[in-house]
Amino acid sequence: MARCLITRELPGTAPERLAAAGHEVEVLHERLPPTHLRLLALAPRVEALLTMLTDPVDEEVIACSPDLRAIANYAVGTDNIDLAAATAQGVPVGNTPDVLTETTADLALALMLALMRRLREGEDQVRAGEWLTWEPARLLGRDLHGATVLVVGAGRIGRAVARRLEGFGCRVLTAGRGDSLEQLLREADVVTLHCPLAPETRGLIGAGQLEAMKPTAYLVNTARGPIVDTEALSTALRERRIAGAALDVTDPEPLPAGHPLARAPNLLVVPHIASATHATREAMADMAVDNLLAALAGERMPHCANPEVYDR
Ligand code: DGY
Repeated sequence: MARCLITRELPGTAPERLAAAGHEVEVLHERLPPTHLRLLALAPRVEALLTMLTDPVDEEVIACSPDLRAIANYAVGTDNIDLAAATAQGVPVGNTPDVLTETTADLALALMLALMRRLREGEDQVRAGEWLTWEPARLLGRDLHGATVLVVGAGRIGRAVARRLEGFGCRVLTAGRGDSLEQLLREADVVTLHCPLAPETRGLIGAGQLEAMKPTAYLVNTARGPIVDTEALSTALRERRIAGAALDVTDPEPLPAGHPLARAPNLLVVPHIASATHATREAMADMAVDNLLAALAGERMPHCANPEVYDR
């Protein structure tokens, strides 16, 4: 029997499954994430943690949790967790790859189409009573079909996006690790980001990269906010150096309403919903619980982000 903490209410049956396996479960029912201080206060009595990407599980939290046996992050990304500190303490960290790949790729396409075809402006005009008639030159956008799209990140989600784009008749360019980005940026009509947040990808798209893009090109980010330099993007949008951006993730997150980026023209922003479908979020919960149950039973986690922990 282990004491498990789930830091938010989840779709699906995570508490029930953990309880059915004989574990003691506490769920935090608040809508906002626990603060770092709250996590520090909870950590000493916890043996298993089911965390969200918004929970800062740093070295201090891990060190305050001497009985910790497993962390399962409810996300494929684990940038909110200090993996090195977890490994050093012998704690496996689980994540939820694969189950959200197709759902995230769908949202990337939705953002591209909405931005390029100006759906939000169109809807705003309808609701404001400005739809007077069919007009030949109003709300003209750009075609996704036939466009050259640069997919940055050649992992599972990047490949799923590329597959969809091929179906749209796009010319797909891919930038993986070690590829020179600048030349590819010059060619693209759309740049879509699908790399994890890591020291080498933080600020990957800054002023120089935005400058390299065509003035008619669009940027889409469904990966992590800090991959893009927020100030550089706000400037590029304000000065119309690129045609627009569609963001599911921002830095900071959430983006305050009065933030310069939120006020930028040609910005479409949604609140980190790329994996937000009933089926996917339930599958993520199942996977996170599978990870915890395996670790608590002394087995290898099926999806472990720090597999080196098993070499110790
Ligand atoms: C992840 O899993 O990392 C996503 O950002 C959640 O939607």
